[in-house]
Amino acid sequence: MGSIAMITGATGGLGQEFVREVLKEKIDEIWAVARNEEKLGRLKERFGDKLRPVRCDLSNADDLSALKALINAEKPDIRLLINNAGMGDMGESCGFSDDVVSKTADLNCKAVCLLCNYAIPFMSKGARILNISSASSFQPVPYINLYAASKAFVRSYTRALNVELKSKGIICTAVCPGWIDTDMLSKEYKGKPVKFPGLVSPNRVAVQALRDSAKGKDMSVCTLFVKYEHFLSKLLPQKVLMKIWMYGIRDYV
Ligand SMILES: NC(=O)c1ccc[n+]([C@@H]2O[C@H](COP(=O)([O-])OP(=O)(O)OC[C@H]3O[C@@H](n4cnc5c(N)ncnc54)[C@H](OP(=O)(O)O)[C@@H]3O)[C@@H](O)[C@H]2O)c1
Repeated sequence: MGSIAMITGATGGLGQEFVREVLKEKIDEIWAVARNEEKLGRLKERFGDKLRPVRCDLSNADDLSALKALINAEKPDIRLLINNAGMGDMGESCGFSDDVVSKTADLNCKAVCLLCNYAIPFMSKGARILNISSASSFQPVPYINLYAASKAFVRSYTRALNVELKSKGIICTAVCPGWIDTDMLSKEYKGKPVKFPGLVSPNRVAVQALRDSAKGKDMSVCTLFVKYEHFLSKLLPQKVLMKIWMYGIRDYV
């Protein structure tokens, strides 16, 4: 089997842009991972023969084992792993059901670690892992608490993994975008239209993330606006950052 890129959440807003950009690289096949077979079928129609749909619910233990078995059986030369699938809802932390809490942790955190572990034995020097974190990882974020905490996990995990994998020549990059214009964003909250400062196109994020990972960076921060947020998060106490955030969302809560 030749060289592959594995992209999770490939049917979503950001995932499709990763597919589009990775097709420009020297890769034999893209394994597009998501749950919905119809959407995966449409993705293949759109992007062609290099795309291999892989149906997998990354929050399901049996599906994860099947994906591990597929990798072990085919022994692909994995040049790129993009852990992009993610979920997150706005709302009071204590209002989330048991199911939502465990699925968010399973998809956003556990699946990211497991896929890295499954892929790394099939990666060699120059291979790259991109784990999609978020600018919400820079600070605690009330009312997107579970999501933001899961993305802080991803950022921390990825940067440490990058250090561990240096001797193998494998690059790990935590991608930390601000708001991206995809279906993930609720355009309305409690009946009010939501404003997303610094909203950016998914293609811009994908291009920047792949460029930063190719340069060997352990973090990719897209747009000056988010770079400024990142800078502030290093400068100001987290209590102050949360006060600023709460002021920004005062119309919704
Ligand atoms: N949008 C933003 O403002 C924003 C900002 C910062 C970071 N991010 C991060 O960027 C990444 C992509 O987000 P997006 O905005 O492109 O989201 P999206 O449009 O909602 O796409 C989510 C993708 O993940 C897949 N997915 C969801 N649950 C899954 C599961 N259990 N197993 C396998 N695949 C699953 C979905 O396909 P199926 O439903 O078919 O499975 C879809 O392909 C996420 O990690 C997100 O947290 C987004």
